[in-house]
Amino acid sequence: MGIIDDKLKKYIDDVQPMKDGILGEIQKNAYERGVPIIPNDVAKLIEFIFSVTKPKKVLEIGMAIGFSSSLMAQLMGEDGHVTTIDRFDVMIDEAKENFRKLGNEDKITLIEGDAAKILPTLGEKYDVIFLDAAKGQYINFLPHCIRLLKVGGVMITDDILQNGTVADDIGNIERRQRTIHKRLRTFIEEITGNPYLTTSILTVGDGVALCRKNGEIPNGYLWKRGHGNEES
Ligand SMILES: C[S@@+](CC[C@H](N)C(=O)[O-])C[C@H]1O[C@@H](n2cnc3c(N)ncnc32)[C@H](O)[C@@H]1O
Repeated sequence: MGIIDDKLKKYIDDVQPMKDGILGEIQKNAYERGVPIIPNDVAKLIEFIFSVTKPKKVLEIGMAIGFSSSLMAQLMGEDGHVTTIDRFDVMIDEAKENFRKLGNEDKITLIEGDAAKILPTLGEKYDVIFLDAAKGQYINFLPHCIRLLKVGGVMITDDILQNGTVADDIGNIERRQRTIHKRLRTFIEEITGNPYLTTSILTVGDGVALCRKNGEIPNGYLWKRGHGNEES
């Protein structure tokens, strides 16, 4: 079972149809093969957020086969642009093929490599940042994401509740999951306690956090980065 009851999940999926056209085929095929793209309810949440915020510039960290980047590019219309980062060549090759099929190559800039190395080199500001990469890195990516987000912009972070186990005591977490558990908790504490962000945590998909940046974070702000990074 996911973080919500199976019956409720099925109901929500039944009332919210998947994409149609080529993007819908890519979505369906990815679910069938178990490629880790966003679930349909997260896709619907992104559609909703984009309809309200009308972003023009989006940064995505974690592209996989390019489903969510293509969805966001489609939602933004002619003058929108997505910059996306991924480091896994197999995913990258398939994403390039999907962008070609969808004819959206001009609307998506792909940066190949480790986001840990790439994020510090970026300087442009974005209206929306979609963080959907290695969960254990979120706490390290966070200061860069917030720096790169415009004031008034929204960061959407996927997969933050670790199948609901984020709520469990560390003693009940499998040893090999403990580091990620601590890091996700630190990330959640940071985004919910940060005075420069307004944050909402939703039980959509495997947990999504929405953060609005309310002001520039001053130099010297003490991030929780580092805490929770120790192995156990
Ligand atoms: C959950 S998938 C992304 C799914 C995609 N957002 C979608 O819904 O269509 C996560 C992706 O993040 C990439 N990734 C994980 N950690 C990364 C890192 N440090 N730098 C770059 N890419 C990373 C993986 O290679 C993988 O393709």
